[in-house]
Amino acid sequence: MLTDSPASLTELAVLKTFGSSPLPLIIEAKPAQADVSREELLAWLKEHRSQLDRLLHKHGALLFRNFKCLQGADDFEAVIKATSHTMLDYAGGTTPRSAISGKIVSSTDAPSHLTIGLHQEMSYLEPSPNFPDPTPDKVAFFCEIEPAAGGQTPLCDMRIVLQKLPQDLIDRFESKGLRLTRQLPETKAAGYEVTWPTVFGTADRSEAEAFAAKRGWRIEWTDDGGVRVFQQPSPSTRCHRVTGEKIWFNQAHLLHTAFAPWTGDFLGPSPEEKAEADRLRPAMSTRFFYQSTHADGSELLVSDLEIIRKTIADTMTMFDWKAGDLLICDNKLVAHGRQPYTPPRKILAALAADDRQADH
Ligand SMILES: [Fe+2]
Repeated sequence: MLTDSPASLTELAVLKTFGSSPLPLIIEAKPAQADVSREELLAWLKEHRSQLDRLLHKHGALLFRNFKCLQGADDFEAVIKATSHTMLDYAGGTTPRSAISGKIVSSTDAPSHLTIGLHQEMSYLEPSPNFPDPTPDKVAFFCEIEPAAGGQTPLCDMRIVLQKLPQDLIDRFESKGLRLTRQLPETKAAGYEVTWPTVFGTADRSEAEAFAAKRGWRIEWTDDGGVRVFQQPSPSTRCHRVTGEKIWFNQAHLLHTAFAPWTGDFLGPSPEEKAEADRLRPAMSTRFFYQSTHADGSELLVSDLEIIRKTIADTMTMFDWKAGDLLICDNKLVAHGRQPYTPPRKILAALAADDRQADH
């Protein structure tokens, strides 16, 4: 057990990595400290918050492991509150998910056979006068039920991706910028779509229009009850607010019709699922899609997007979830995804923002 004053980082935990990969840094409770109480752990986290932030900015992600007091959503939320300035909600997002409690949500409700490509959370949200830095600083995950098989959350350092990408590709993206258009249905047909009432947090059209106006988005209601959302231009790279490092920061490699979910076996691999996917595909391709272009509306080169996808695949690292694992990622530095899995699997998610005034 700990003494009255919080222990230093290494008195409570061992810091290590999975092999030679610096991502994530594992902060593993020493066997003698695995039974530390939640209150003691929270006090320790608060005491060492600036040191933990420095490690987060260096490695990109911190994995807390073997702390037995971390059991569920309530413990997860308490840790995120102790290590962050403000917890955020998922308004405006692109992934189906369910509320668990407070601002804790399921990591995704996407079917277990699907691979979720690596992305920085909400990096498709463009800066605007009302939201100068609209993407979370941290995205965190908690493993309540470890997967029976698979289900890893791959991580990728996007500083390294930027270093690896060809300079002519970077120049094309930086000089011409990006713009996202989304077609969102009113209701689900295949189960995994994101509906506009989910994105806007309301089924009321005038409230949805007000939400869009605040973001600077132009919207058009479509005959099928859906809506087309035209976002403002967005940069393709950015500099980290604290470290100043330049990062590849966009989701064009995922949010493009060349890689839309309905281009594959989105319902599953069985003959029946393939047949149903074939039946749904024509309607799916018009009622639900994301399309990234350059800011002036010109098409992206699909060959560029293939290079980005391969660079991320070659750079990413993976580890197997253990129940009780708590992962905090710097959402600007590191992209995350999800591997297919054999149920059960229950991973919770949370978003947080730093105190952005504190740095100025
Ligand atoms: Fe995500």
